[in-house]
Amino acid sequence: MAVNLSGNLTALQVMQDAPVIPVIVLHDVAHAVPMARALVAGGIRMLEVTLRTPQALACMEAIAKEVPGAVVGAGTVRSAVDAAAAAKAGARFAVSPGYTKTVGQACRDHGLSLLPGVATGSEIMMALEDGYTELKFFPAMQAGGPAMLKAWSGPFFDVKFCPTGGVTPGNALEFLSLPNVACVGGSWLVPADALAQGDWACIERLAREASQIQRKP
Ligand code: 3PG
Repeated sequence: MAVNLSGNLTALQVMQDAPVIPVIVLHDVAHAVPMARALVAGGIRMLEVTLRTPQALACMEAIAKEVPGAVVGAGTVRSAVDAAAAAKAGARFAVSPGYTKTVGQACRDHGLSLLPGVATGSEIMMALEDGYTELKFFPAMQAGGPAMLKAWSGPFFDVKFCPTGGVTPGNALEFLSLPNVACVGGSWLVPADALAQGDWACIERLAREASQIQRKP
């Protein structure tokens, strides 16, 4: 369900663009643009660059400026300062490992759609209180995996999840076949060794395989 890339994006649009959102860790700004081009060539446009390295913001900026086919988002957004810096660097959406009202407000202030991270029913209820119905389930495998999502589908029938953490090509389809899963997140699309070797063909192939995952009806 490809969306128009211009204008503000909703969290649901970010989730529904492709089956997988790559969780990306970049240590070298020179890797950012060729990596993003490889992902886009493979059919993945929503790119979560995590704020885990000193180079992350410069990488986002380079992708936002030089890869018009990509939508760059910021991962590991933990504070209002993170949200402000990510928006300034050109991020269009944010993903957080947990949820606080401060982060939610900062993302709204900066025009970033947010996928807040949750791992418990109480955290889901706090995010719902603030209007978030599209949530990241993190860390998905460690916190209960597909069985947890099935249990949540009863009381939280109106919530869509992006499970992230321990999702692999081997279990992605099981998650994606659940009615309350809109997409999954995973780091496997951008392996550290492929980045180090400049193996953009590998990243493109992994993106193509991920973008072609077909949900079970
Ligand atoms: C993370 O925060 O690192 C993501 O959840 C990715 O987890 P993964 O490496 O298990 O895909």
